[in-house]
Amino acid sequence: MKPLHVVILAAGQGSRMKSSLPKVLHRIAGKPMLHHVMDTARQLGAERIHGVIGHGADQVREITSAEDVQWALQEQQLGTGHAVAQALPNLPDNASVLILYGDVPLTRRETLEELVSRVSDQSIGLLTVTLDNPDGYGRILRDNQGKVTAIVEQKDATDQQKTITEVNTGILAVSAGHLKAWLPQLSNANAQGEYYLTDIIAMAAEQGIAVEVAQPETEYEVQGVNNRLQLAGLERWYQQQQANRLMTEGATLADPARIDVRGELIIGQDVLIDINAVFEGKVTLETGVSVGPNCLLRNCHIGGDTHIEANSVIDGARVGRNAQIGPFARLRPGTALADHTKVGNFVETKKAVVGEGSKINHLSYVGDATLGRNVNVGAGTITCNYDGVNKHQTRMGDGVFVGSNTSLVAPVSLADNVTIGAGSTITRDVENGELAVARGKQRNIADWQRPTRKD
Ligand code: UD1
Ligand code: CA
Repeated sequence: MKPLHVVILAAGQGSRMKSSLPKVLHRIAGKPMLHHVMDTARQLGAERIHGVIGHGADQVREITSAEDVQWALQEQQLGTGHAVAQALPNLPDNASVLILYGDVPLTRRETLEELVSRVSDQSIGLLTVTLDNPDGYGRILRDNQGKVTAIVEQKDATDQQKTITEVNTGILAVSAGHLKAWLPQLSNANAQGEYYLTDIIAMAAEQGIAVEVAQPETEYEVQGVNNRLQLAGLERWYQQQQANRLMTEGATLADPARIDVRGELIIGQDVLIDINAVFEGKVTLETGVSVGPNCLLRNCHIGGDTHIEANSVIDGARVGRNAQIGPFARLRPGTALADHTKVGNFVETKKAVVGEGSKINHLSYVGDATLGRNVNVGAGTITCNYDGVNKHQTRMGDGVFVGSNTSLVAPVSLADNVTIGAGSTITRDVENGELAVARGKQRNIADWQRPTRKD
């Protein structure tokens, strides 16, 4: 097999996006469209990816640099043929070349694999689609034996040619040798004064090179994005695919139209996901996990049979089995909760390692802390981890009981089975089994007269 080189056209301005961001950096499922295309190219085993950039080139390069990407600058956008020609010197003669577009983000790998399998020294692969409304697209011309002979652009087409509904997606696969022979021969003597990549089809046909056609499974795969309406349309299609996959794999979704997966969501069976859940980065939900309404989960691993209640935010955390989180909990990066733990409403954790069976049920901040097993943290407990310059650690052994409204001024360590009286400000370590109370002593004043109002 010849090495595969993928050329991605991404030089156009995208003025209809009405944006300072280059079009190909607008996101589908949280990822720039161009990165979707590049990831697909990698899945196809591309030896090298050639990005043709122009408008916003610096911005595109900056967030897209990777070892396998080689850039070609197209300073003036003189047409798709001219664009591919910019990458031509970087293409090895023996390569198969697949042409993709930075604003056509969701072509399936299988579709492209089939297309690439059609390219050889005697054939090129062309991806076409039949549309009810072919307006604006290049039309596929065939002879009376059904062989593809040329592509004619809408603006150059006769009225009769405009009735053809099989159109060019723009995506094609061709040997580098052919490209090197044909691209220099392109002319811009056409209605738009552009160098059309599509004109190589007629050159192929004339030289007896077979044009082998493949088609995508759905139109969405070859849909380009020119404005934010089309961006939203593709986003919804993508999310619907994700929802379908999750249900196939054993998740119950309260509403398949109200889930957003912006990354990789891995699930076990009998996972329950209520409405408006957003998943970002890599998230794993083991068997039996439930996620309540309005939750955001990012880069986290949730153990089996754990329940996440409504309005919780979990980011960069690891949660064990049979845990209970929320409602309104916020787990920040570095949180690791063991099995059978509980983190309740209005609790924030950060770099908190919490042992099995421990509970932080309400209104607390636990940061830079290690908790043993079966610790009970009362409502309103705060780890004072920051002195304005440095962060300090709080340690709690097994069986610690922290009374409500306690400040733990770090660094501080509570040994096993320590009890802290409610309302304490703890600044010194507490030894095994001790009770620490650090608060003003209560005075009761008998026969207290409330002040009266002067007339
Ligand atoms: C192109 C095809 C048309 C096809 C359609 C599918 C040609 C001549 N026509 O038309 O047959 O039906 O796509 O959408 O190829 N680009 C550059 N540099 C350029 C010109 C374009 O990078 O100089 C990029 C654009 O950013 C865009 C893509 O190539 O992503 C397509 O260019 P565009 O001008 O939109 O081509 P169409 O007129 O849509
Ligand atoms: Ca276009």
